Amino acid sequence: MIRAILLAAGKGTRMKSAHPKVLHELCGRAMLWYVLQALRRAGIGEILVVTNSQLQERIAEFGVAGVVQTEQRGTGDAVKIALGAMPPHPSACVVVAYADMPLVDEDAYAAVMAALDDSAAMSLLTVNLPLPSNFGRIVRGGDDVARIVEARDASPSELQIDEMNAGIYAFRESELRDAVTHLRADNAQNEYYLTDVVRHFVTRGKRVRPVRSDSPLDALGINDRTELARARREMNARLCDRYMRDGVTIVDPATTYLEPELSIGRDSIIYPNTVISRLSEIGEACTIGPNARLSNAKLGNGVIVRESVVTDATIGAGTAIGPYAHLRGDSVLGDDVRVGNFVEIKKSELADGVKAAHLSYLGDAVIGSETNVGAGTITCNFDGREKHATIIGRDVSIGSNTSLVAPVVVGDGALTGAGSVVTRDVAPGERVAGNPAKPLPKN
Ligand code: UD1
Ligand code: MG
Repeated sequence: MIRAILLAAGKGTRMKSAHPKVLHELCGRAMLWYVLQALRRAGIGEILVVTNSQLQERIAEFGVAGVVQTEQRGTGDAVKIALGAMPPHPSACVVVAYADMPLVDEDAYAAVMAALDDSAAMSLLTVNLPLPSNFGRIVRGGDDVARIVEARDASPSELQIDEMNAGIYAFRESELRDAVTHLRADNAQNEYYLTDVVRHFVTRGKRVRPVRSDSPLDALGINDRTELARARREMNARLCDRYMRDGVTIVDPATTYLEPELSIGRDSIIYPNTVISRLSEIGEACTIGPNARLSNAKLGNGVIVRESVVTDATIGAGTAIGPYAHLRGDSVLGDDVRVGNFVEIKKSELADGVKAAHLSYLGDAVIGSETNVGAGTITCNFDGREKHATIIGRDVSIGSNTSLVAPVVVGDGALTGAGSVVTRDVAPGERVAGNPAKPLPKN
């Protein structure tokens, strides 16, 4: 059995924020989300997070349990509190990690767990970092670790050691439960250091096994907003790599901002300055950007979105959006639709083949297939108090600069002349024009 204790009770003072540090986001997810994801990928099913009272209120959103450490008395105290809240499983392996390290992937946790063989009470990840450094120093005893010295307690010669404690550990649960009861806060910070358990084990003849990581990023904890930005850049690069490996062309990963859990079909091309977020799904062979923002967008195959904003919208295959269009409010567009320059579409349905190529506002509208919406068409959906629907049929020709005063229905095959102000329903096949629009003589 493998369980994990994740420490996240620290105040995060250097973030200078009203929010708990580990809830700050990079690439659309909280730091804590990434750490939980990596632990789960490493095969750890049971995770307990040590929280402060503010974080505890939000912990359920992450699908994990939390236990509050009311006073931050050190990492050793935090682990002791967690163990007190967990039913004992003496034979379990307990991974302890810090929740502000979103770049650590499952391999690091797996490596530490693998190093905890039958001969060891504890294993931990070490990283060589440039000096000077605030990290705890690894004092070796042969191939094993003899003790960890916190930088603030280290002697000048110990400060010259460049092998650091990354802050990722695995323990035999029975050994850890015993060791935390022996911790003392007799150090520079008057804290109960988890790292002091090493000396406890070693003086009792038990082994502490180090696993050296060759990636300094395995030790990058986020303490302030510049470190958050650095981590975001690295995380975004990893995400871009992953989507590129899956067959997506990203012209400039440095200016393409992606998130986990997107779906992007092969042979889609993403041009620079593009943000794709909130579980967006993009089909194959789409063209996105430059300068596009997609949020919770669902795109079929072969869709083009240039220089446009698409939020909460579904778009059918072969449809082309932009430049400079804005789709929102759960709009649904069919296949081969054309939405062009300076068109805003809110909470509307456009069936296959509809064209709205220039300068329009379509809100609360339903538009039938192959209808052409002329330049400057506006659905006047708001009467000052309520929103109303505009229903337009198939094969309709809406003339340039038509105002459709909702609620209003325009039947299949109808036509409105340029500049019409349509205040009453238009029958199928009928042709209207003027302000207010009136039927034209039939010819
Ligand atoms: C810790 C290690 C150090 C290591 C470094 C790596 C100890 C004593 N030292 O130092 O050897 O090189 O991490 O980053 O562990 N926390 C609590 N409750 C507390 C105190 C801390 O939950 O009472 C949490 C914090 O939220 C944080 C983590 O534990 O996520 C680490 O605490 P922090 O104070 O940052 O330890 P460091 O001084 O960085
Ligand atoms: Mg720290």
